[in-house]
Amino acid sequence: MKIDSLESLHELVTATVLGPGFRRATFAGVPRGNAPAVWVRVVVRPVELRGERHLQFSYFDAKKDTTRNFSPSETTDPLTEVLAVGFSGIHITTDAEELDLRTTKKGKVLVGRREVNNATAALEPHNRVKDVPLPEGKADRLLEVMGIATADGRVRPTMRAKFTQINEFLKQLRHALDAAELRELGRPVEILDCGCGSSYLTLAAHHYLNNVLAIPSHVLGVDVNEEVIRKSIDRSERIAANGLSFACGRIGGIEVKPDIVLALHACDTATDDAIAQAVRGEAKLLLSVPCCHHALNRELRAEGPAEVLRPLLRHGILRERTADLVTDAFRALALRIVGYRTDVVEFVSTEHTARNLMIRAIRGAPPGDAGHVAEYREMKRFWGVTPYIETALGEPFLSMVS
Ligand SMILES: C[S@@+](CC[C@H](N)C(=O)[O-])C[C@H]1O[C@@H](n2cnc3c(N)ncnc32)[C@H](O)[C@@H]1O
Repeated sequence: MKIDSLESLHELVTATVLGPGFRRATFAGVPRGNAPAVWVRVVVRPVELRGERHLQFSYFDAKKDTTRNFSPSETTDPLTEVLAVGFSGIHITTDAEELDLRTTKKGKVLVGRREVNNATAALEPHNRVKDVPLPEGKADRLLEVMGIATADGRVRPTMRAKFTQINEFLKQLRHALDAAELRELGRPVEILDCGCGSSYLTLAAHHYLNNVLAIPSHVLGVDVNEEVIRKSIDRSERIAANGLSFACGRIGGIEVKPDIVLALHACDTATDDAIAQAVRGEAKLLLSVPCCHHALNRELRAEGPAEVLRPLLRHGILRERTADLVTDAFRALALRIVGYRTDVVEFVSTEHTARNLMIRAIRGAPPGDAGHVAEYREMKRFWGVTPYIETALGEPFLSMVS
């Protein structure tokens, strides 16, 4: 589909947002319009108020966010106002499709459309208690100490993405607890958070398991950076949490046998070290969201069987994404080989972070599956590389795949 003028872009957005299957629209990116840009992002979604469908507009600026609800007859003006900002990225979800509209510097509109089936999802009642592990909107000491929310419970606009990531990560953790049979161990669940950084996930996981799900849990956060560990200890003291500890050191350098290993954006090969720590300690569950993938990017060559992929490796951005995918494919396959049921899932929408793939692995598959070993060898031969996961896992993985 081609859009050749701003008017037709506005018409398409208005018709889709006001149409019957509309579910959500996000307006963000560099403003290209003439109107002053007072917001950095605007999100529109349908809500039910007193039995009638309304549209809720959430306006985010650098310091705060404001929410307003409009009845169907009042909706056109606020929508026109948002469109006048000329946000360069508009993403719309309906029951039937995902629509991605990007406006370039030269004013060209690039349209991406993907068919989906969201028809079964219900309209969100305005006052529904959302299925979120850490809800917002009321005073919460933990969110305040983490610096995510203000004292009266409003999420700081600059922390919105982190807040969403943590909530989505915790949802994945909750779902995986049953599959990994970790709800009733008869002792506290031991959790290791690798590359815990400022400990948002560490504190949140400890609170969610112990205080919300009532699953006794100990959480240890490890990071190589002394400063973040000092800050994390200070935070944990301020919320006076039991069974929460921190250690400064490299992932893998601390001998522990956790039931669950978490790693959210552990940089580059630190993700492999977290995977290896889980495997060595025979952890039941690993949830890892990888971050920057540099190691393989340096090694990929358009040579041998991979010669045919020269066009993919020629351009920096394509090469980088290829290296990301190949790295994570090697990791997921290695986990299968050592006996983990493994999936790779999108844990949060790209609007919150581009680093949004989660490797989810549950121990319990037969190790050394011949089909997976053959795939691994073939992938290594094709790319002519030795992925770092192999070094991190060491023996007995090496003897399984060589
Ligand atoms: C991008 S931050 C993510 C922090 C946190 N997990 C979060 O998502 O908010 C990555 C963290 O991993 C730590 N890190 C990187 N490599 C590490 C390693 N080999 N061992 C321990 N920590 C590491 C860094 O110091 C940094 O704090």
